[in-house]
Amino acid sequence: MANRIPDELIDQIREANDIVDVISEHVQLKRAGGNFKGRCPFHQEKTPSFNVNPARQIYHCFGCGVGGNVITFLMEYEKIGFIDALRELAHKAGITLPDRGSDRTGAEDDPAVVANQMALAFYRSCLEGEGGGDARKYVGERALGQDVVSTFAIGYAPAGWDNLLGAARRKGIATSALVSAGLVVERDGGGFYDRFRDRLIFPLLSSGNRPVGFGGRSFGDQEPKYLNSPETRLYRKGYYLYGLSQARQAIRLSREAILVEGYMDLLSLYQAGFHNVVASAGTALTNEQGRIIAKYADKVFIAYDGDKAGTLAATRAAETLIQLGLKVRVAAFPDGADPDSYVREAGPDALREALASSQDFIDFYVSLNPTDDPDDREGAARSLIETVVGIEDSLKAELMLEKIAAALSLRPAAVARVYERRRAERQLRGRAAHKARAGEERQANGRTKGDGRQAAHSGRQGEGAGVESTTGAHYRAQKGLLGLLLAGGEGAECVRSHLEVDDFTNSDIRILVERVLAGSASEGPVDIAALIDPEDDSELAVLLTELAVSESSQKDGGRLCDDYIGVIRKAQIEGRIQDVDKEIRAAELTGDERRATEAMVRRQELAQQLSALSSDR
Ligand code: UTP
Ligand code: MN
Repeated sequence: MANRIPDELIDQIREANDIVDVISEHVQLKRAGGNFKGRCPFHQEKTPSFNVNPARQIYHCFGCGVGGNVITFLMEYEKIGFIDALRELAHKAGITLPDRGSDRTGAEDDPAVVANQMALAFYRSCLEGEGGGDARKYVGERALGQDVVSTFAIGYAPAGWDNLLGAARRKGIATSALVSAGLVVERDGGGFYDRFRDRLIFPLLSSGNRPVGFGGRSFGDQEPKYLNSPETRLYRKGYYLYGLSQARQAIRLSREAILVEGYMDLLSLYQAGFHNVVASAGTALTNEQGRIIAKYADKVFIAYDGDKAGTLAATRAAETLIQLGLKVRVAAFPDGADPDSYVREAGPDALREALASSQDFIDFYVSLNPTDDPDDREGAARSLIETVVGIEDSLKAELMLEKIAAALSLRPAAVARVYERRRAERQLRGRAAHKARAGEERQANGRTKGDGRQAAHSGRQGEGAGVESTTGAHYRAQKGLLGLLLAGGEGAECVRSHLEVDDFTNSDIRILVERVLAGSASEGPVDIAALIDPEDDSELAVLLTELAVSESSQKDGGRLCDDYIGVIRKAQIEGRIQDVDKEIRAAELTGDERRATEAMVRRQELAQQLSALSSDR
C-alpha cells in the first residue's frame, strides 16, 4: 500500500469494526442464512441483492457488482478517501491514528501523498476564502454549480510564488515532499516556487479518492491555458483518466462510457446529468487508458471537439478502443463547439440526441475523408483495414471488413486479401518481438519460463491488442481455482501443489493468486477482507467478494481442482496451436517452406497432446 500507516494498524482498525454493524448504520439488513441481505446503496433496486457476509467481513452486490471490506464500504458510501475512512473507523473503535499534517505523520505517511492532500485542502479553502473572489467569479462564468465544485473538489491556487510553500511550512510538511508531488518547481538559482499560481484547480483523484496530481486552468489568456502536474510516482498521465472515480459506478451499471477531451467537457456533462463520463485530459488516449475503460464499459461514445484537431483525435481514440474490443460510436459537434459549450448552449436533450445519432467508426471515417476517386477510396480502405488488423475477435473483424467494402464500394474479396496480408505481416513482426522479449525475460529471471505460451501472452499484451475475455471455460476455470484457493481445505491444497502463478493468464485473477500465495498457507479460508487493498482497481475487490459470497461447497475441492486444471492445460495447448497456426499461415504467405513444415510437425504434436488430454477425462 502506498500509505505509510502500518499495515498492522490498518488490520487492527478493520478488525475492530464489524462490517454488519457499520453497514447497518446506512442500510437496512436482514439475516438470510449465514449472510445479511439488503437493498444495495450503490444502485437503484427493488429486490435486495446486496450481501454482507459477517464471517468473512465483506460485502458484495450481485446486482451492480460492487464489493469490498468495511474500509472500502465507507470510502464508496461516503465518497471519501482511504485515510478519511480509516480515521472514521478508528474513531468508532476508540483507536488513535497519528494526526495528519503534524511533523510526525511525515515519516509515517507517504510524503507525496500527504503533500497532495494538504494542497487539495489548501486550494479548496482558497476558493472559498477571502482572496477567492475572482476565482469564484470564473467558476460562475463557466457555469459550474456548487455540486460539481464539491464532487470534483475544485479549488483555487492563489497568485504569488509561495502560498503553497508557506501553507506547507505551517503544517510541518517538508519542501522535499512538495517536490516529490510536483507541486513546486526548483529555481535555477536555488530555492523553490509554487507550480500552480492564479489558476482554477482540478484535482486528479485516484480510484481511492486521493489526489495524485492537479490540473490548473488560467482565467484569462495566460499560457498555457492548462497546466498539469508533472508525472510522478503517484501520477502517470497515460494511465490516468480524469473523472473515473466519480464515473465508475455509472459506467459499470450502464456498461457505457462517454469519452471527452477536457476537464471542462467532463464537468459540464456531469453537471447535466451524464455521470458516466471520463476524460483523457492532456494526452491523446493511450492503450492503457482504453484498457481501463474496457474494464467497466462495453461501448464508448467519443465526444471530442468539433474542430479538425478534435476529429483527428477522435479517429485515433476510436482506433485504439476498437482494437481493444469495445463498441465505438463517434458523436459529431459543430465546428467550434465542444461537448462543454454544446451541452450548455443546446441543453442535455440535444446532447442526448447527439449521442443517439452518433456514427459507428467506419461511417464516421468515410464521412470525414474524401472518397470520390479510386485513389482516395484505396487510401481510406487501407487505413480502415489497418484498424481491423488489430482486432483479436475474428467475427468482429469479419463484419467490419464487410462494412468497409460496402461503404467504399470495393469488392469484399479485395478488402479481405489486403487484410490477410497485413495480418500475416503483423504476426511476423509480433513473433520476432515476442522472441526478443521472451529472451530478455529469461535472462532477467535467470531461468527458463518453461511455458512458451506465457511469453507469447505477455507479448501480445505488450502489443496493445486484446482485452482478456471474461467469458468462456478458460476464464471460469481460473476463477474457480482462485475460489478454491480462497476457500482453503483440500481444493486450495491441490491448487497450491499443481499450479503456478504463470498458469493464470487473466491479469486480475493472476494478481489475486499472487497475493494469496504470498501469504502463508493455512488450513482454513483465506482472510479475504485483509486481501482487499483500497488503492486497487475496484474490480479486484469485486472479484474477490463475489467468489467469497457465492462460495461453493468446499467438500468437492479436490475433484473441482482437477477438472479446472484440465481446462487450463487444454487452453494452454490450444493457445500454442493458435500460435503455430498463425506461424504456418505467415510462413506460407512468405513462401518459407522449411518453416511451414517445421510448424506443421509441431502442430501435429500439439494436437496429439490435446486429444490425449480429452480422452483422459
Ligand atoms: P481544450 O483546448 O479543448 O480545452 O483542451 P477545453 O477543455 O475546451 O477548455 P476550456 O473550455 O477552453 O477551458 C482539452 C484538454 O486538453 C488539455 C486539458 O486537459 C484540456 O481540458 N490541455 C489543453 C492541456 O493539458 N494543456 C493546454 O494548454 C491545453
Ligand atoms: Mn475544448
